[in-house]
Amino acid sequence: MDKYYFITGNKGKFKEAKDKLEYLNIELIQTKMEYPEIQASDLKEIALFGINFCSERLKSPFFLEDSGLFIEELNSFPGPYSRYVQDTIGNDGILKLLSNVKNRSAYFKSVVGLYKDGPHLFEGISRGTIANEMSGQEGFGYDPIFIPEENSRTFGEMTTKEKNAFSHRGKALEIMAKYLENGVE
Ligand code: IMP
Repeated sequence: MDKYYFITGNKGKFKEAKDKLEYLNIELIQTKMEYPEIQASDLKEIALFGINFCSERLKSPFFLEDSGLFIEELNSFPGPYSRYVQDTIGNDGILKLLSNVKNRSAYFKSVVGLYKDGPHLFEGISRGTIANEMSGQEGFGYDPIFIPEENSRTFGEMTTKEKNAFSHRGKALEIMAKYLENGVE
């Protein structure tokens, strides 16, 4: 059975990957290797830097993932700064920034960077809106305030499987899974 490492300290991300890749005949292992997250406006650039850094230290196939929330009314903020913003002002802060704002459109973007005989990048986008208030205990980060398109519930109110069907990460992982199955990008 082929072994793949998912480099992440985020248990929620690992749970989502485990669920999405369950049907492949692979062993998935979580590892917490630290890698520098460069300040760049493009998630692909950040992921590529991470893969190249880690490929010098880890000799087995692995992947990592970078994601961000892009809010239209805030000119795509927090985008690549999503982690810092989540750790500082959090969901309460985002809701305050959007109080009395009608345009609540936003999207999540995920870039999965796989290293297997070289680097490969897979992207997924999930469009939706920012809720008026937090709801749900599931997931992590911005999940309680993000409602994906064609839904009335936030990611925070969904099971891992439900979220995976609509989420940015679910979509990116699905493209990677097809690549691992068929070798076609
Ligand atoms: P990073 O990719 O781990 O750096 O994530 C950036 C920030 O966005 C972190 O604060 C995450 O909690 C948040 N984030 C990334 N993906 C998701 C998601 O699927 N749901 C909610 N928040 C997310």
